[in-house]
Amino acid sequence: MKDIDYLKKYYKGDITEATNRLNNGEPVQYIVGNVDFYNYNFIVNKNVLIPRFETEELVDQTIKKTKELFKNKVDILDIGTGSGAIAITLKKELDSNVTATDISKEALTVAKDNAQKNNAEINFVNTDIYKGISTKFDIVISNPPYISYDEEIEEIVKNNEPNLALYADNNGLYFYEEILKNIKSILKKKYLICFEIGETQFQSIKEVKDKYLPESKIELKKDMQGRDRMVFITNIE
Ligand SMILES: C[S@@+](CC[C@H](N)C(=O)[O-])C[C@H]1O[C@@H](n2cnc3c(N)ncnc32)[C@H](O)[C@@H]1O
Repeated sequence: MKDIDYLKKYYKGDITEATNRLNNGEPVQYIVGNVDFYNYNFIVNKNVLIPRFETEELVDQTIKKTKELFKNKVDILDIGTGSGAIAITLKKELDSNVTATDISKEALTVAKDNAQKNNAEINFVNTDIYKGISTKFDIVISNPPYISYDEEIEEIVKNNEPNLALYADNNGLYFYEEILKNIKSILKKKYLICFEIGETQFQSIKEVKDKYLPESKIELKKDMQGRDRMVFITNIE
């Protein structure tokens, strides 16, 4: 659907003002103030990344794999939760306890509102990655910031969505290494790690995985457009 048609369908206020905002380069989802993701609806504003289709695919694959690999209730950690879309959807779709972190207090305010709106109980923690967390999880999932600082990205994204949600050091690989290097301290014996990745990052992430979790296997999945966008790491046969 074209942005203007989307606006006309979903925007509840003064359409002239909303059209001006659209013409000034603001994403239609921020103007409307919410967005559908999976089977749910989430509040979005400039403090959170707008949840993407490929993240729905990550969530969908994670749900399928969890049902295949685990028989009992699972403990899940979502790192960099933003709007809470991943954490809340997993809580609704799986028999689970869900913890979600973000370094942004403003993002967590949105995520908490979304949890309430969708009637999902989530343990939100304002921290850097998973610092201070000593619980153990069956599943760790993250769609971290992964854009390298010198990468060209769409103006509408660069000018509107939080930099904190987009960019990462070390060619965009910083968070994958930071997450994996101490991850054993928060993993149960049998685990599943699920990442959204940039489409050129698989080989580098595999090397990081081999360094810290040599015993586990890694699977790459393509999104519906055929791009390398998801990885799953597990030690479950
Ligand atoms: C790409 S966004 C993903 C948001 C959401 N999970 C989604 O998939 O739509 C990355 C998120 O990581 C958060 N973040 C950035 N640096 C972080 C850090 N050091 N520790 C925890 N979260 C961080 C950002 O605030 C942002 O919400």
